[in-house]
Amino acid sequence: MRPDMQKLHSSWHRLSSRGNFKGVILFWATLSLASCNVSPNLGGGIVPLSQAQATYTQLSSNILQTRCLSCHSDQRPSGQVSFSSYASTMASAGTVVPYQPYQSQLFKMTSTAQMPQGGSSLSNTQLSQIYYWIAYGAPNN
Ligand code: HEC
Repeated sequence: MRPDMQKLHSSWHRLSSRGNFKGVILFWATLSLASCNVSPNLGGGIVPLSQAQATYTQLSSNILQTRCLSCHSDQRPSGQVSFSSYASTMASAGTVVPYQPYQSQLFKMTSTAQMPQGGSSLSNTQLSQIYYWIAYGAPNN
């Protein structure tokens, strides 16, 4: 065999060896896992926020009180949902599922512009606050 062919042959052999096959699988597994967790698929609208930038206190004053409370208070809990307090927000099943924004009606309804009903949809920053507050476990912070 010519030396260059010999080289090609042995590198092909290296690539198709079991060790490399495992490496390839591991590579793709890591890649797909990473892409699951990194950021939501909302056309790139979500901006990364730290836990300190996505607290319940900020969410409540920037979004819930100003955009939602007129229809979702203890006095008027439309759809059985009240955002009057942290406790009432967490009380209705499915509204907030800690760590699972995509399972949470709070994020689903706002990111699909179904809420606030009859009003303009939330900004990307507001949606990001909701997304990350839930993704960080929806603490009372
Ligand atoms: C003008 C009134 C109004 C405003 C403002 C409003 N909502 Fe609603 N919302 C409703 C009504 C009525 C329902 C129940 C019927 C329905 O689902 O359409 C509802 C239902 C919901 C539900 C329950 C959906 C389900 O099926 O579990 C969520 C969550 C919700 N709203 C979130 C919000 C959030 C978050 C805001 C503020 C960003 C908001 N809403 C603002 C009227 C409103």
